[in-house]
Amino acid sequence: MCGIVAYVGTREAYPIILKGLKRLEYRGYDSSGVALLSNELSVYKKKGKVAELEESLVGKDLHANIGIGHTRWATHGEPSDRNAHPHLSPSGKLAMIHNGIIENYGQLKSELLKKGYRFHSDTDTEVLLSFIDDIREHNDCSLEEAIRIALKRVVGAYVIVILDRDNPNTLIAARKGSPLVIGIGKGEHFLASDASPIIEYTKEVVYINDYELAIIRPDELILKNLGNETITPYIQKLDMELAAIEKGGYDHFMLKEIFEQPHTIFDCLRGRLELSEGKIHMRGVEEHMEQLKQAKRIIIVACGTSWHAGLVAEYVFEELCRIPVEVEYASEFRYRNPVIHPGDVIIAISQSGETADTLVAIEKAKEQGALIFGVLNVVGSSIARASHAGAYTHAGPEIGVASTKAFTAQLAVLTMMALKLAMEKGTIDAKRYQHLMTELSDIPEKVQTILQNTDNIRMIAEKYADARDFLYLGRGYNFPVALEGALKLKEISYIHAEGYPAAEMKHGPIALVDDQLPVVFIATKDAYHDKIISNMQEIKARKGRVIAVITEGDTVITDMADDVMTVPAADEIVAPLLSVIPMQLLAYYIGVHKGLDVDKPRNLAKSVTVE
Ligand code: AGP
Ligand code: GLU
Repeated sequence: MCGIVAYVGTREAYPIILKGLKRLEYRGYDSSGVALLSNELSVYKKKGKVAELEESLVGKDLHANIGIGHTRWATHGEPSDRNAHPHLSPSGKLAMIHNGIIENYGQLKSELLKKGYRFHSDTDTEVLLSFIDDIREHNDCSLEEAIRIALKRVVGAYVIVILDRDNPNTLIAARKGSPLVIGIGKGEHFLASDASPIIEYTKEVVYINDYELAIIRPDELILKNLGNETITPYIQKLDMELAAIEKGGYDHFMLKEIFEQPHTIFDCLRGRLELSEGKIHMRGVEEHMEQLKQAKRIIIVACGTSWHAGLVAEYVFEELCRIPVEVEYASEFRYRNPVIHPGDVIIAISQSGETADTLVAIEKAKEQGALIFGVLNVVGSSIARASHAGAYTHAGPEIGVASTKAFTAQLAVLTMMALKLAMEKGTIDAKRYQHLMTELSDIPEKVQTILQNTDNIRMIAEKYADARDFLYLGRGYNFPVALEGALKLKEISYIHAEGYPAAEMKHGPIALVDDQLPVVFIATKDAYHDKIISNMQEIKARKGRVIAVITEGDTVITDMADDVMTVPAADEIVAPLLSVIPMQLLAYYIGVHKGLDVDKPRNLAKSVTVE
């Protein structure tokens, strides 16, 4: 996910692009750059936020009426000046910006290397641009035709915008899977990842669809499909305000990120879980497969929501790989004198990749010879650089302080990793492997099903919003989801909540139960279902108010509970990816009902980079 802005018209391009990039920094902010075309094609780019790029350009001659700009969220190649966009083609004639992931960039890169091409960056973007340049140079065709030919071979998601030194009044853009809006002005056009950089200039926009290619000049917009057939642009009128646009029309980033999860989980699986091949591709795992297979123990270190993901992973790895797993609060792990054996594998889970406790914990383990494997959302982050290997969650920037889409992406990565390792170790058979791959690949659609009707969850949230305490109970794979549900409620609504293993309730917490205490059971259909029903009866017998997350069609609990939230049926190993969604929404709607700032809860920071 990144921010793209481009302009062609009669005004100065640079100020428009710069302002637009600042509006899009919520989409990615590890580096930025602009390409401007007047007498010559100039590219300026650097690591860091847009303001740092702006500062570096003070005093330069930036006159141009056409240009492209990009604020990056790295997926291939760590944040750096050379990996920042725009990228220049080998011929020096083309500059390109890109949002998305080119999954088959490795294949394309090896073909180009054999042809003698050399690359200045580690990005998939530069490979695509070189591929386009190569086609144009060797087929003696137009740039538009070269782009069409190239995109027919590309696997993955993209928005690309290209500036051509030999056509100084034309931008070419193409889209598949990432967003692009074109603003229609008088003798000018604006392009951006969403309408926020455009709305102050024009409210007339065209949303580009997948497999469409646009040729944009000051007073002309031509739309074509990859079959070179012209399409009539459908011009719409913007009716949202700026703030709403940055949040994609949602009231808060947290809600937007909850609703992004079908897409972000799909992006996380993309290019890795190949159902038709019956294979899981994870380079970081493959490069250390022997050490992972020989591991006598896996230690997971993390904090907060990431620690909850680690708890789910403990059940998954032990069940599938038969390797003992310990899950440690990074803050505790780093201060005691843990016993680390050289064969140990440390999995560090972190959305930000900057959490100080987690970073120090892995440094300590590394000194004692452990393999450090990072499951992270930020490419090139401190924990990424401190790890020997890893797998990125590709969830895109998570702006809401409460972690939501990063959590489900972490679970998706960890489940793929466990499945791959278990198959290599032979601790699961091909049938179960294929079954669980199918179960995992069905998750994005099942999450979408839950998100299609959230009114019931909102009603439940408003019904219980005045409670002073909540208890969250779960068993097995859903026990960590109970802890995560309690954390979400605490940090978003400031209501005290406690997560507990459902069976453990009898050993003390049941004393809390009265007719004022809502008890949330994460009770999807699994091996523990009958047991959790007994736990529910114990609560009901003490007049507790029971809210349950259930598998659709579970009439037994529906008859017992005061309120239910349903999720589609799924194998218990992947059920947490579904059962957590109502937990996220319950916390969100209670926080909103209480009029709280759900994106920036009091006392909290998005990344805890202090001890
Ligand atoms: C989760 O909602 C919280 N914002 C917090 O617990 C967070 O998960 C924790 O600080 C760990 O952050 P990290 O994943 O970036 O390391
Ligand atoms: N995959 C490209 C890169 O890593 C684009 C990432 C983005 O969408 O910001 O540079």
